[in-house]
Amino acid sequence: MDKFSLPSAMSINAVFQNFPQLTTENLILRETTITDAPAVFQIFADHEVTKYHDVETAISIKQAQFLIQRRAERFQNQEAIRWGIARKEDNAIIGSCGYSIRNRFQAEIGYELARDHWRKGFMTEALSAIIQWGFEQLDLNRIEALVMLENNASIKLLKKLQFAEEGVLREYGFWKGRFHDLKILSLLKKDYSQFI
Ligand SMILES: CC(C)(COP(=O)(O)OP(=O)(O)OC[C@H]1O[C@@H](n2cnc3c(N)ncnc32)[C@H](O)[C@@H]1OP(=O)(O)O)[C@@H](O)C(=O)NCCC(=O)NCCS
Repeated sequence: MDKFSLPSAMSINAVFQNFPQLTTENLILRETTITDAPAVFQIFADHEVTKYHDVETAISIKQAQFLIQRRAERFQNQEAIRWGIARKEDNAIIGSCGYSIRNRFQAEIGYELARDHWRKGFMTEALSAIIQWGFEQLDLNRIEALVMLENNASIKLLKKLQFAEEGVLREYGFWKGRFHDLKILSLLKKDYSQFI
């Protein structure tokens, strides 16, 4: 395949028919099921993981079960797709990443990883795979990310993946009882095509 030619995108209905499992060098990106609730709970029970997130730190496994169910419903409704990030060696869930679909050509990317696995390149690996899938299979034109200004790890990760900073949306987010300014970054298909 020529480096700039992309396979034809599937129709949106075809994309959402079966959950699309992806495999990278070290990871399996797969649907999370209710049996993953203990692992998901562990991730979201860590204040360092939820610090810059629009979710509360989990205090009960029920919250993890609810989150897994909610992800499945949003996939069925074609509103979002959230992959569980599993280690290849034991299929254990160590994080998640995915898209909230904004419209036919735009989606917002989101992600989190268990603290034990930070700074090993795992999220770069996972996001590279879902970005390629998003442009090639979902036929996205624009992937955007909204990040709290203090979240240096997330901003560094996005910039490494060639996302461009567009500015600050003032008091755009509301969670944990207050408004938050959010940095907006984006990656366009035409820019992505230039570095693959
Ligand atoms: C943001 C997060 C997903 C990064 O995952 P990760 O697997 O550690 O990231 P990677 O190892 O792929 O690193 C990507 C780049 O970001 C940099 N980076 C990662 N964590 C960093 C940190 N804490 N401080 C500074 N830079 C950091 C890395 O150095 C790397 O750049 P480099 O290769 O040039 O050194 C992880 O810190 C996390 O889960 N945070 C909590 C949840 C969260 O904030 N989600 C995003 C909400 S918008």
